[in-house]
Amino acid sequence: MELKKTPLIVAIAGKGGVGKTIVTTLIAKVISTSCKYKLLLIDADPTHPHLSQMVKLVPEISLEKIRADLIDNTISKKEDFQSLAETIDFKVYNAIKESKDFSLFSIGQPEGPGCFCPSNMLLRKVIESISSDFDVVLIDCEAGLEQINRMVIHSVDILLIVTDISLRSVETAKSISESAKKFTNYKRIGIIINRVKGEIANILGKLGEYELPVLTLIPEDELLTKFDLEGKPIIDISENSISFQKIKETINNILEI
Ligand SMILES: Nc1ncnc2c1ncn2[C@@H]1O[C@H](COP(=O)(O)OP(=O)(O)O)[C@@H](O)[C@H]1O
Ligand SMILES: [Mg+2]
Repeated sequence: MELKKTPLIVAIAGKGGVGKTIVTTLIAKVISTSCKYKLLLIDADPTHPHLSQMVKLVPEISLEKIRADLIDNTISKKEDFQSLAETIDFKVYNAIKESKDFSLFSIGQPEGPGCFCPSNMLLRKVIESISSDFDVVLIDCEAGLEQINRMVIHSVDILLIVTDISLRSVETAKSISESAKKFTNYKRIGIIINRVKGEIANILGKLGEYELPVLTLIPEDELLTKFDLEGKPIIDISENSISFQKIKETINNILEI
């Protein structure tokens, strides 16, 4: 067996609502079905943290909660700063929820109003420290450019950008790829066009013009819609579903599993 020194980090980015979390879930299903890799999922979307429900693995505590508790304890001086700093690693490791197929860590939602920057900065450090225990790390990113511009997603090997068949999502993909060139050290980039139906020559044309390589096209999948309607976790979708098959083919090409 080949022993890897560093994990393969795959980030899934794109405009809001295009299917990032669905794609992350389907990739997790492909990788866990192969049983070859120790897999960590990171739900890095603080506004729509749906990954855990989609994969049926909900951690008891999020990074945001750890951070909020740390601030509370520092302010109320329940613990001195030194001992708090020493326990943070332990708390982060305990926040990784494990199942037999994969593990999941969640950035969580801030409890009060305010910005996600502090959690995002912490997340960058956390990704670096917890990833080394895994072979593959999948990061379901926040919509848009923020986490790439702020270098939260810095050490990424493969950047997958999801679009739908709207030109707006292609423009977002272009901006993400430009930011990623500046702020990340990705080795491979690829576009996944999701919810494809009808004629999409202009979308393909634009992506060609922007020199963004298309990895696959996922059609509108009735089975996904049915799962959505019934509120079922997407990880349980049939391996015969068209969306799973497309992602399987793509991931097989990238990871050779
Ligand atoms: N190929 C598809 N066919 C049908 N429904 C889809 C497809 N891809 C995504 N969806 C649905 O679109 C919605 C948004 O997907 P989601 O993965 O949550 O987007 P994002 O994470 O980018 O915000 C979900 O309800 C999802 O089930
Ligand atoms: Mg999402």
